[in-house]
Amino acid sequence: MRLLEVENLGLGFGGAGILRGVSFGVGPGERVALVGESGCGKSMTLHALTRLPPTDAANVTGEVRFMGAPLRGPHPRISYVFQDPMASLDPVMRIGRQLREACVEPGEGRAARDARIAETLRAVDLRDPDAVMRSFPCELSGGMCQRAMIAMALLRNPALLVADEPTTALDATTQADVMALLGRVVRERGMALLLATHNITLVAGMCDTVNVFYAGQIVESGPAREVAGNPLHPYTRGLMAAVPRISGRRAADLRDIPGEVPSPAEIEAECRRDGGWACAFRPRCAFAEPGCGAALAPRRLGGRTVVCKNKPLEVS
Ligand SMILES: Nc1ncnc2c1ncn2[C@@H]1O[C@H](COP(=O)(O)OP(=O)(O)OP(=O)(O)O)[C@@H](O)[C@H]1O
Ligand SMILES: [Mg+2]
Repeated sequence: MRLLEVENLGLGFGGAGILRGVSFGVGPGERVALVGESGCGKSMTLHALTRLPPTDAANVTGEVRFMGAPLRGPHPRISYVFQDPMASLDPVMRIGRQLREACVEPGEGRAARDARIAETLRAVDLRDPDAVMRSFPCELSGGMCQRAMIAMALLRNPALLVADEPTTALDATTQADVMALLGRVVRERGMALLLATHNITLVAGMCDTVNVFYAGQIVESGPAREVAGNPLHPYTRGLMAAVPRISGRRAADLRDIPGEVPSPAEIEAECRRDGGWACAFRPRCAFAEPGCGAALAPRRLGGRTVVCKNKPLEVS
């Protein structure tokens, strides 16, 4: 049984929809990424799982199940790590007190709790737990605060850790370190990870499965290495090309895909069909053909799913 199942999730604020037909799952201990450019709906999807603001005020359709039961609000076995650690930590409370408040193991004595906190801080590479616990957030670097946030999420002993762009507020080297750390600690603890990020190459190294979003919809999903190594959807190809290469050469910017991401109102007007949605990427797609204006169904190609009609997109 899957730990988390998201089935046909739709979300809108009043008029036009922001998410359409979003379906994916997370297995126990599996590391799953949601990838796509700014505004594609990654955060809305993650927030909608437990109806965090602003999705508590949205029209949400579809079904979310967690540990076999419908999920309609916060769950003690789901922890979140958000983008900006400074905004998530209480600035006037020492880190130690914030970590103690995150410990909810019933019947855990003070000494056992403090030992567990120290062990968890060391696990996230904060090597002087006592000093960290005595500190206020402003006394730590951004990278240290984000490690403390990850420790806080781990202390709740979740079955699923949800991380929304956990490293974008950090400098590039710290980003890579914190990302690698996140992948490592969830694996060591047997926790599942659901991670939203722009960076598809980063995901290939640390996640099992990736779901690529374009304009509120999943356009491609499958094993992360396969999707990153041989992207099938034309949008995923553009996204791969937009990531700066570690080798130094700056690859094409995503703006090099002609056109712009359509607004929810444009998608509503141009893509709604009886029985589904036409491809929202077709105005920008070099492979577009007349059939792309009809309702698209996901195609299965090996272990992968691609929402695209294109013939050239076969697994090579
Ligand atoms: N409070 C809100 N009310 C209405 N629409 C919103 C609200 N917040 C975000 N949106 C819209 O929802 C869409 C999806 O936004 P979301 O924040 O999920 O994108 P994202 O993929 O997380 O982007 P980023 O990479 O920038 O974090 C966007 O078009 C955005 O304009
Ligand atoms: Mg976001």
